[in-house]
Amino acid sequence: MKSFISPVTVISGPGSIARVPEEINKFGASKVMIFADPGIVKIGLVNKLENLLAYASIEYVIYSDLEPEPPLEVGDRALQALRESQADFVIGMGGGSSLDIAKAVAVLSANDGRVQDYLNLTGTKQLTNKGLPKMLIPTTSGTGAEVTDIAVFSLETTKDVITQPLLLADIAIVDPELTYTLPPSITASTGIDALTHAVEAFISVNATPLTDALAIDAIERIAANIRTAVWDGANMAARQELSWGSLMAGLSFYNAGVSGVHALAYPLGGLFKLPHGVSNAVMLPYVFDYIWPSCMKKMARMAQALGVNSEHLSVREAAIAAVQALNQIVLDTGVPRTLKDYQIKREDIETLASEGIKQKRLLARSPKPYTIDDIRNVYLAAFEGSLQLGT
Ligand SMILES: [Fe+2]
Repeated sequence: MKSFISPVTVISGPGSIARVPEEINKFGASKVMIFADPGIVKIGLVNKLENLLAYASIEYVIYSDLEPEPPLEVGDRALQALRESQADFVIGMGGGSSLDIAKAVAVLSANDGRVQDYLNLTGTKQLTNKGLPKMLIPTTSGTGAEVTDIAVFSLETTKDVITQPLLLADIAIVDPELTYTLPPSITASTGIDALTHAVEAFISVNATPLTDALAIDAIERIAANIRTAVWDGANMAARQELSWGSLMAGLSFYNAGVSGVHALAYPLGGLFKLPHGVSNAVMLPYVFDYIWPSCMKKMARMAQALGVNSEHLSVREAAIAAVQALNQIVLDTGVPRTLKDYQIKREDIETLASEGIKQKRLLARSPKPYTIDDIRNVYLAAFEGSLQLGT
């Protein structure tokens, strides 16, 4: 028996940001605190939101002391600022990190303690109060953070999360127009993060026909449009398709979960500060090169969704072709695809493996189990850039 949960109101489509004031007013809020990373403040994306709030006479304050892959202290400072602000509504706007901070502090503001008290691996407290109402506005097509209950934080050597249904947004505004100015490298890494959510949800042991339907549609849309969105960023149709793909991937993985790619990517973020999407991209082909024999039928279906013409292929051949297609997407979108490219050394693999095996919550969803040796070998393949492809 499995459950499917999606209590977030999602308002989507080009121009949907215009709905923000109306949605805030439904909560009778008197002061809004906006958590937005400095990058999107600088390029003027937050101005759009400010103009809407000012026109509707909604009082707001902007907090932008944020950074990607936030360490615990960034979360604690944001929490302190919210507790002192007297705001009664929270907006998170930006990439996944800004959305994660917003949803975490909105809940923590009504609970005792600080961020580390509630971490999945080492926390000691349980969240009990819902906290402030929250709206999440992604400006990338990638993380799915607007529809999940997970907030990720960087620790010294790896990452940990707060994951609790109270973290779910009340409203998500998914407006592809906000992604039109993203540069190629961010479009690529966040788009591959979204693709990773979809393919990992699809082969998860917790997948259901509901999550599969969302995942396979997301894979089709992302695979067919990510190259265009990266290299021809002004192509609005491709941006919109990527936005839908990211949203559907988010809804799918919130329920089915992600597994090996994210588990092995986390230490790359923790130890070497690789951005989340980049660390997933560099592991994606090698993890699927390891797991495909355990889920061949699904991999063969995935191959079709990835655009492979598998008419004359056996199930095994189609499954391998799916791994190749994932590798090709990483290659075509220009994301470096070996650990060497990030100055990671062969002797670092032991530490990476010992951190990766700790991500039991994620690894438990993999259709093929991992030993520490398996994890070491996957990292080694990613280091060398070598795919086995069934040989
Ligand atoms: Fe992710």
